Amino acid sequence: MEPYRVKVVESISLPSREERERALQRAGYNLFNLLSEEVYVDLLTDSGTSAMSDRQWAGMMLGDEAYAGSRNFVHFESTVRELTGFPHVLPTHQGRAAEHLLFTQFAHRGDIVPSNMHFDTTRAHVLRVGAKPLNLAVPEAYDPASPHPFKGNLEVPKLVELLEGPSGASVRLVMVTITNNTGGGQPVSLANLREVSRVCHEHGKPLYLDICRWAENAYFIRSREPGQSDRSVPEIGREIFGLADGATMSAKKDGLVNIGGFVATRDEKLAARLKEDLILYEGFPTYGGLARRDLEAISIGLREASDERYLEHRIGQVRFLADLLSVGGVPIMQPPGGHGVYLDVPRFLPNLPADQLPGQALVVELYREGAIRTAEIGAIMFGDGETPPARSLELVRLAIPRRVYSESHLRYVAKVVRAVWARREAVRGLRMVEAPEHLRHFTARFAPLGH
Ligand code: F0G
Repeated sequence: MEPYRVKVVESISLPSREERERALQRAGYNLFNLLSEEVYVDLLTDSGTSAMSDRQWAGMMLGDEAYAGSRNFVHFESTVRELTGFPHVLPTHQGRAAEHLLFTQFAHRGDIVPSNMHFDTTRAHVLRVGAKPLNLAVPEAYDPASPHPFKGNLEVPKLVELLEGPSGASVRLVMVTITNNTGGGQPVSLANLREVSRVCHEHGKPLYLDICRWAENAYFIRSREPGQSDRSVPEIGREIFGLADGATMSAKKDGLVNIGGFVATRDEKLAARLKEDLILYEGFPTYGGLARRDLEAISIGLREASDERYLEHRIGQVRFLADLLSVGGVPIMQPPGGHGVYLDVPRFLPNLPADQLPGQALVVELYREGAIRTAEIGAIMFGDGETPPARSLELVRLAIPRRVYSESHLRYVAKVVRAVWARREAVRGLRMVEAPEHLRHFTARFAPLGH
């Protein structure tokens, strides 16, 4: 049962079949181009789409909008320090701004940035400075049917081989994303993080974590990793952060806010350089591109997101939807991850070859069937030819916003997906008619094949 009750509501409605068809045409079959009123259940992302609590809204009213030295910054900084142990904390307007600051310092032309799997903006920031993003997740991460409990893990022998090989000197930092969004919201185990940390530090390389879904990751460690069930989520979090040199965070996920993020580090000299760039690109270090009231909401949200009753329900919702789909035979990434259910496109639409963009075709079909908005995480998002993936996944993500939808919304979503599954052989492919060079999934336009 939800560990909260509803105090404010927002109405939603189902557009007619004709309205959906017209919306698809106008949007160039890219659901990023839809108006939100054209969507019934919006599973495009779990980022910045959470419902804030009454306490967070109350915190917003306590905004001290001073340019410098706001009390909300003091609260924010002490919360992040207490949760993570990182002494230097710089607020940013969202996660990609933190990535911008970090990679500007750490990655240059010809460098290699290894990670378990880079997400879209992380990858794009590495590419922007002329460096190479390298995914080193364990082989199970690429097998949607594998029940491995920690498919976010990094393959440590591969990392050792890289660091000790001819390209070792080109690695200036190692990143690990918890949970692994690109690979299905899959967690990284504490044992793996300990190993990665040891290897990085033996080779003199700093380890940075992308911690936007750290609380969900810590919850999985608590429930799946031997010997961890008696520890609290914040306690596990402190051990995770203690293994790293710093972190970037989009607070739009496990900060339970609609905007905000930060970069944090133990390195005092680096912090001074980051601060200079922060002032240039984001704002003064006690606000970093945010209203001060937003910092208050983050500092309350970070604590609420590590509450176990909240997490039990949150992860339970994802599992609930995954179970409804599995029972109907729908192929999904197993085990279900922390922030959404990911459909396994090659098994869902085996008849559509890769050049007919099956992931996007499925996204379009789910909207056409029931006005649910989902996201392709596959060839369109990552296959722009810069770094052709050696091993790849073709997924459609049904991301679940935090504290927003109820069990009956999820039942509706399952009904829609199962209806498309039942008529999967009739799903038509698409072609891309317009696309920018980078991050093309946001603005590309498509057309149905045969038109
Ligand atoms: N890192 C990861 C793992 C992410 O999932 C995201 C955003 C970011 C960094 C960037 O953060 O959006 O605040 O700039 N992911 C969103 C998503 C957009 O839909 O998964 P941001």
